Amino acid sequence: MPLADDVMKKLLSASEMDPDSSTGRLFAYIYETGREDLARAAREAYSLFINTNALDPLVFKSALYFEREIVGWARRLAGGSEEVVGTVTSGGTESIILAVKTARSHFEKREGRSAVGEVVAPATIHPSVKKASHYTGLRYIESRVERDTKKARVEDLKENVSNKTALIVLSAPNYPYGTIDPVKDAAEYAADKGIPVHVDACLGGYILPFFERLGIDVPEFDFRIEGVTSISMDAHKYGYAPKGVSVLLFRDAGWKKESIFVDLAWPGYPFINTAVLSSRSIAPLAAAWAIQSLLGENGYLELASHVVEARDAIYSGLSRLGFESLAPIESPILSLTHQSGESEVLKFHAVMSERGWVIGLQPRVKNLAPLNIHLTIMPVHKRIVGEFLRDAEEALSSGVPEDLRALLSQLERDPLAAALKIGETKFDAILIAKLLESLPEDLASEMAKELAVEVFKP
Ligand SMILES: Cc1ncc(COP(=O)(O)O)c(C=O)c1O
Repeated sequence: MPLADDVMKKLLSASEMDPDSSTGRLFAYIYETGREDLARAAREAYSLFINTNALDPLVFKSALYFEREIVGWARRLAGGSEEVVGTVTSGGTESIILAVKTARSHFEKREGRSAVGEVVAPATIHPSVKKASHYTGLRYIESRVERDTKKARVEDLKENVSNKTALIVLSAPNYPYGTIDPVKDAAEYAADKGIPVHVDACLGGYILPFFERLGIDVPEFDFRIEGVTSISMDAHKYGYAPKGVSVLLFRDAGWKKESIFVDLAWPGYPFINTAVLSSRSIAPLAAAWAIQSLLGENGYLELASHVVEARDAIYSGLSRLGFESLAPIESPILSLTHQSGESEVLKFHAVMSERGWVIGLQPRVKNLAPLNIHLTIMPVHKRIVGEFLRDAEEALSSGVPEDLRALLSQLERDPLAAALKIGETKFDAILIAKLLESLPEDLASEMAKELAVEVFKP
């Protein structure tokens, strides 16, 4: 048996494989406040509940307590009345799978089990909606977005709606460009037709209400709009909880009932699942509750003001360096391209990556967007604005790194050979974005699957 010390050493060295979000160098993945008091509270809450199982809330009663508290908080943020109920899930994807499954159950009741329902959503919707449609056997129908605003085109949604439509899904905001879909117009239309509308506020649900309280104009997206039937919002994004907590809210108990899976006929324990998952730890819920309790409304408001300050400072600094926003700025997301074209974006991304900044790079999309950088702004970024902008200026005034030049020329000559280098270059994000532009989608998907098998092989 290895000594405890050896195991600990290996754990520590594995943790060094990961970036440290508290440095403020990550512009995605971890929604970092930079506050050690919150990080400590989350760790302590988490470890206190490490050996728990939310499978049976009649045995583990803390699961009920935390879920009620978390759903209550989310409901207030989402402008929900007392009628609004909800379920805590393990993340945005699980909430969305559950929302789509709920719509399917509702559709089946209306149209019978043999009818195949459809999910209509704009091209900017998070892929978990397509994934959920795929898992539940619904057909996914993509509608177009406005080129300038990157918002769903209501006319196009309407054209795609039929008596087969089981659900319309919209974003508040969408991940790629950060804009909020015209939920009001679409939901009013859908309500007339009796079609449910899910709002994916996984990103915005915990922060946009505080933008509004800061006096910022936020397009309406929540339960204050009559036709909105469910909303997903992630406590593990701008709720600042560790990963493993999202909330799916339903307009009323009737919708929630459609989401629940029950099997009381099997020979084992009574099987009543409100979420997709069955056994799961209560630890993430305890940590989310601790953060929400410590922060309270004022704490969240203050953190939202840090996000706005950091976002505006970063945007104005990058604008002076020639970057331009691809869409109206309505959320903590910036998606930017450069006046001088793609090569500046690539060079910027490469040099910033070499300096340890983890920045998103989004591919060119025909008739929608050129290659662009993506920044999710978090409260911690208020501290690093100066350093970030100094590095940004130097990145743009430096030459193209030699190894990037070599990689780009190989991509042009032989994209498949270049693809084999994923995971081995300093410029994986660039390699992937460029490959997505040059390879047919089917081939790229097949290669991605092979790569995913390969990298996880023991
Ligand atoms: C808009 C939006 N919806 C849904 C999700 C899925 O959330 P998760 O990664 O927690 O499953 C994300 C994740 O980035 C997102 O940005």
